[in-house]
Amino acid sequence: MAFATRPFVRAASSASAAAAKKLVVRHVTVVGGGLMGAGIAQVAAASGHTVVLVDQSDEILKKSTKGIEESLKRVTKKKFADKPEAGAEFIEKTLKNLTTSTDAVAVVHSTDLVIEAIVENKEVKNELFKRLDKFAPEHTIFASNTSSLQITELANSTTRQDRFGGLHFFNPVPMMKLVEVIKTPMTSQKTFESLVDFSKAVGKSPVSCKDTPGFIVNRLLVPYMMEAVRLFERGDASKEDIDVAMKLGAGYPMGPFELLDYVGLDTSKYIIDGWHKLEPSNPLFAPSPLLNKLVEEKKLGKKTGEGFYKYK
Ligand code: NAI
Repeated sequence: MAFATRPFVRAASSASAAAAKKLVVRHVTVVGGGLMGAGIAQVAAASGHTVVLVDQSDEILKKSTKGIEESLKRVTKKKFADKPEAGAEFIEKTLKNLTTSTDAVAVVHSTDLVIEAIVENKEVKNELFKRLDKFAPEHTIFASNTSSLQITELANSTTRQDRFGGLHFFNPVPMMKLVEVIKTPMTSQKTFESLVDFSKAVGKSPVSCKDTPGFIVNRLLVPYMMEAVRLFERGDASKEDIDVAMKLGAGYPMGPFELLDYVGLDTSKYIIDGWHKLEPSNPLFAPSPLLNKLVEEKKLGKKTGEGFYKYK
């Protein structure tokens, strides 16, 4: 009996081993060619993946490609300082790996990994994932770069919850080494490991976190910045002194107000408002009247020329 069942056992175990095998990502679709999406497309193409970058218009994509070319030149200047020919070859190879499209549905048919980096709006992201789920191959993993939305909710707009996770890159993507890989209760181990491997393949250092508000970095950083605003609001210290204190006393490269202006006050307000809704009694998530006022006045930080500080 044991003899007769052995081939079956072997066949079954090799089938399950194949099913459990991690996916090696070679073809990537990045949806959203803004600040983050362009950076993600760049590092993926530079590390040998074929990448299609998708956005809403050719005009936006032209701007994204131009930004990528300029960023590649900067990276190359440093990386190949005394080998300009190798640098030129690196840029050429990277750009060869990169194409663009305005039609995500038309390009996902041959992709291993879809990374979404579009506008931070749950309904718009859900609509995109739902649509792509119908056209992407069975094996394709979906990942969102969202900073503040629940990955589980986005995964639920698809039928591939086991092949769905978070890949949270940091700005500017070509410079920042960290990627937070987010595992929902439904993300399979195989998907999670494939996302970790992909993060390493693009030259990043992955860390993992459950699907919780802010993951690791923003869960610590956003309440810290809000505490700084509250300290200033109470009149306990000036914003200039708080910035100097955290740079010289804690060794941070930027003070909290400089960082808020860099990130964008609207982005920070959006995040804290979302968390406040989830946990209204958590004092760390309480909204700030000063932050709200600045956003209302369209003083959003560096990008508008004024936030906590003036730039011009
Ligand atoms: P962005 O505004 O620079 O770029 C978003 C791009 O998505 C735009 O080019 C827009 O045209 C495009 N887009 C919008 N809807 C689309 C659709 N349906 N199909 C195709 N393209 C569409 O935004 P950013 O800063 O790059 O953020 C993107 C995502 O990355 C957001 O989810 C954000 O939370 C997240 N994130 C942002 C970070 C940051 O520092 N800006 C850091 C980490 C994550």
